[in-house]
Amino acid sequence: MKKITIAIDGPAAAGKSTVAKLVAYQLDYNYIDTGAMYRALTLKALNNNIDVNDEDSLSNLLDNTTIEFHGNNVIFIDDVDKSKEIRSSIVTNNVSIVSKHKKVRLKMVELQRQLLTQGGVVIDGRDIGTYVCPEAELKIFQIATVESRAIRRFQEMQAKGINTSLEEVINDIKERDRLDSTREFAPLRKAHDAIEVDTTNMSIEQVVDKIVELAKERMI
Ligand code: CDP
Repeated sequence: MKKITIAIDGPAAAGKSTVAKLVAYQLDYNYIDTGAMYRALTLKALNNNIDVNDEDSLSNLLDNTTIEFHGNNVIFIDDVDKSKEIRSSIVTNNVSIVSKHKKVRLKMVELQRQLLTQGGVVIDGRDIGTYVCPEAELKIFQIATVESRAIRRFQEMQAKGINTSLEEVINDIKERDRLDSTREFAPLRKAHDAIEVDTTNMSIEQVVDKIVELAKERMI
């Protein structure tokens, strides 16, 4: 069977990474979490007191940073496992500022395209179908209402013992979506040939089954 690229884009906390990992597992594909890459740079910038509005410093920092995936769940920054730290609230609240800079994005996209050359990949983000890999054989635009996205993210955070309120999570998600879809370079957009999947009333299994079915049709 032909090895294809599956691109999953969509707004914040739409469950893309959960679904993408399961699809990758079922198809024995690799998973590339592009959001984790922007989070990695954001974490390193915050740890080094670099202003998230300073495009040139962020771009230089990225030149001196190695970001590597180990399997589908683990990310190393400069040879250290930072998989947990990149999910912290402070990173979440700054990542959309770091990722709006064109110089940062151009470098990240270069890294992402290198990872794509391995073939047989599920990749998720905001600009995959429109910019990083417009030739992907299957493009999904995964959406859900703000409320249902916030409830899922709130429950995840509670399970991790992070103290927050549902209202705060709703506001964070709305603000991130606003920044991601209004930035000038490669904003969050549905590609014209992407298939929209509204997961508001779907279980994870239903979403995964649908994407795997669509993928198999394209592998023949
Ligand atoms: O999982 P969640 O929806 O919280 O977000 P994520 O996929 O980890 O992405 C974090 C942030 O990185 C997004 O809000 C965007 O600002 C940025 N991002 C991006 O600009 N382009 C991508 N391809 C992926 C993420």
